[in-house]
Amino acid sequence: MKINHVAFAGSYPTETQCPQDGKPEFAFIGRSNVGKSSLINMLCGRKEIAHTSKKPGKTQLINYFLVDSNWYLVDLPGYGYAKISKKKRREWEKMIQDYLVKRTALQCAFVLIDAKIPPQPIDIEFINWLGEMRIPFVIVYTKTDRPKKKQLEANIQAFQQALKEHWAELPQQFLTSARERTGKEEILSFIKEVNDRTLGQDS
Ligand code: GTP
Ligand code: MG
Repeated sequence: MKINHVAFAGSYPTETQCPQDGKPEFAFIGRSNVGKSSLINMLCGRKEIAHTSKKPGKTQLINYFLVDSNWYLVDLPGYGYAKISKKKRREWEKMIQDYLVKRTALQCAFVLIDAKIPPQPIDIEFINWLGEMRIPFVIVYTKTDRPKKKQLEANIQAFQQALKEHWAELPQQFLTSARERTGKEEILSFIKEVNDRTLGQDS
């Protein structure tokens, strides 16, 4: 699938304020700095439609991008950012959880996992919570350009092993690098399949 047009549609502090037009949504979630906004830019073929930063905690609201007038990419704030107050962190967590639990237009959450580090308990906990809440999700490994091939394989293997402790079946997984623009076609094909089912074949 090719994306022809992307428009920033707005930033919202709560789920209830998000667009109510019922268009299908695909949300990007993961630890602060994992590369959510960079991945959205890569998928859209735009340099900085979603704002990125070297410093964690850049995305602080629920950001909507309307694609080809038909569906939304949603950029969420990250979880697990240590350098903000406990109160603020709880507010962000509530914003993210509320969005994920209540959003009927949400087709799938893309959970981003940093491929250059070993499994992080906070990611496993978050994925297990998604499962408990029956929120559909897939896994996206990010920054695959950073580790050496052997290390990359070991990190992915270890992550899968950690998931297997809780899950009988593993979710679908994608390997990506925003820097090298890899994984784009696979993710866009997946979104197209879901949209074809939701919107009909002519989407
Ligand atoms: P928050 O909004 O703060 O939660 O972060 P985020 O998850 O949106 O991450 P963002 O896209 O802002 O990227 C964080 C940093 O990681 C930036 O310095 C990016 O350039 C870098 N980065 C993102 N994707 C990749 C990648 O595929 N490869 C490499 N090497 N760096 C990446
Ligand atoms: Mg961001």
